[in-house]
Amino acid sequence: MITCSAPGKIYLFGEHAVVYGESAICCAVDLRTRVQVEIDDTINIESVLGKTGIDSEIHPYVSAVIERMGEFTSIKGVSIKIDSDIPVGSGIGSSAAVTVATIAALNTLFNCKITLEEIAKLGHEIEMQIQGAASPTDTYVSTMGGVVIIPQKKKLEHIDCKIVIGNTNMLSSTKELVANVAKLRDSYPQIIDPVLSVISSISKIGEELVTNRDYASIGYLMNINHGLLDSVGVSSIELSSLVYAARNSGAFGAKITGAGGGGCIVAFVDRMQVDGVAYAINAAGGSSIITNATEHGIMVESN
Ligand code: MEV
Repeated sequence: MITCSAPGKIYLFGEHAVVYGESAICCAVDLRTRVQVEIDDTINIESVLGKTGIDSEIHPYVSAVIERMGEFTSIKGVSIKIDSDIPVGSGIGSSAAVTVATIAALNTLFNCKITLEEIAKLGHEIEMQIQGAASPTDTYVSTMGGVVIIPQKKKLEHIDCKIVIGNTNMLSSTKELVANVAKLRDSYPQIIDPVLSVISSISKIGEELVTNRDYASIGYLMNINHGLLDSVGVSSIELSSLVYAARNSGAFGAKITGAGGGGCIVAFVDRMQVDGVAYAINAAGGSSIITNATEHGIMVESN
């Protein structure tokens, strides 16, 4: 029996802009999806969503991984059990984490010798196949861990302030939100392209701030980035309520993380303020998760 895990992620800056080749900074967080695999007579996939065989409705990512792994090995029967700390469909990278952790676990079980770079690439192809649109960011950061600037894929300094996630508990579709931004861009390229380009500038300036561990300035730029995401239509009253609750209770800064529409916000917070920020997010109707950045991407936890 093999267990591999992979982390979720938050965006400091740059979601949506990254879809158009602009810069983003993304950070793996200490919320993990664990995938346990062992040889079996048939294919069985088990998670909180249910027990299935290959099933593109209930377990689309894991099913697609099993099918694609056929390029490397013959899988006649395998039992796969998934357990996750990452809220599903909330912009924290649950689909990327389950995809790359499953590839890694099957890679180890069947000794396919797929490299980490290849796992990230295969994970991205699977996200593309299922979502229709996805940048390689989520699968890359979940595979490698750490704080990464895209498109260079360069690792930055570890982030050591607290990270508080606020979940609106409202599901959103990345595919739909990416399509909405694309539509807006088609209608008003003179307005939307500069907005995406300013978001990119925030990420580029943010690189040095991460290196200097200047969390107050990072927070300030996160607030600006939130305003720009709002301007392209991906915020909501629930997301903004959580953003303002976090800011008003002492966070360095707060913004949407991921596709928006529903899902989560992220706040950077000094250790001393963390309980107050988490309390304020809960009082504003969200569910807070206190976490940290992690340098650990895919891990083989036991074999
Ligand atoms: C979703 O987590 C982030 C987006 O930029 C889409 C993507 O990069 O694939 C909205």
